[in-house]
Amino acid sequence: MSIILDSPLDMHLHLREGEMLQCVAPLTARDFAGAVVMPNLISPVDSEHKLSQYRRDIERVCGQELFTPYMTLFFRPYRLAELEKVKDQVIGLKLYPAGITTQSEAGVTDFSEIEETLQHMQDLSIPLLVHGETSGFVMDREREFIEVYRDLAVNFPKLHIIMEHITTADSVEFMERYDNVSATVTLHHLMITLDDVVGGFMQPDLFCKPIAKTPRDRGALRSAVFSGNPRIMFGSDSAPHPRHRKECVGCAAGVFTAPVALPLLAQIFAEEGCLDLLQSFVSDNACKRYRISPPEKRITLTEKEWVVPELYGTVRPFYGGERLFWAVNRDGE
Ligand code: NCD
Ligand code: ZN
Repeated sequence: MSIILDSPLDMHLHLREGEMLQCVAPLTARDFAGAVVMPNLISPVDSEHKLSQYRRDIERVCGQELFTPYMTLFFRPYRLAELEKVKDQVIGLKLYPAGITTQSEAGVTDFSEIEETLQHMQDLSIPLLVHGETSGFVMDREREFIEVYRDLAVNFPKLHIIMEHITTADSVEFMERYDNVSATVTLHHLMITLDDVVGGFMQPDLFCKPIAKTPRDRGALRSAVFSGNPRIMFGSDSAPHPRHRKECVGCAAGVFTAPVALPLLAQIFAEEGCLDLLQSFVSDNACKRYRISPPEKRITLTEKEWVVPELYGTVRPFYGGERLFWAVNRDGE
């Protein structure tokens, strides 16, 4: 069996910088027509200058691939003039509560202080992408943050708000209630629960923010995605960290799924008997919600066994060393 995907998109991706960028960006660029690139670099992407420099770095390492990096700016208070200047160069602003995840120290500490920037974004139709977690108990963080999402959705009804990498049944339910709210869902949150992370030997490669939740939460995500919910877009949240930052005291958060994203998506959609819905999850929903037209790029996936490499550079991928049953067709293979 085979399936052709038109212009697949990854709506939430970490590409990093330097050698890591060189290692991971081509893996996404060969399989996807575009990806939303997160701005949480060591020095966050929070100016027009850093933005254009980062885009150039990405384009350089992606070579001739037909691939659009949809850039995001790290959310901080911005003046209207600053946003007017970058408006056409970004797909949105990414908001992190301060210190909530990898390299987010410069994020928001007080939500009452950002209203002016949100108003400018609404006026300029710049979407707001949000890492929605409080600093509460780890399993409750996403649920607690829903209050903040509610205020945002009600106070800025014309602002497109994207709940990034949702992991709970509450988030699915909340998202449905407001027309201006969408969500991304990762591959790994469709597959794993907290049990896979810490239920046996602890698995650093599955540790990420938000942490994987309960079987019920995973069930709610799966029902929403496998029933073709048009508000939900694929965002891998592929977040590479070198092995020495995972297999150590103080494991970094992030699951590296870029090289297996499309094959595993095809596999789980096929298992559910809904391969016909994969196109909308990995492309059409995002094109409609964000009003974007990615480059035309056709990717064919075929049922074919292969074993995922143990390492890409210094990073262990999701399913590293394991057998997959779907593969991306590559020229000359
Ligand atoms: C991401 C990273 O490493 O940049 N980590 C993660 O666990 N998902 C940041 C993020 O999206 O939270
Ligand atoms: Zn992320």
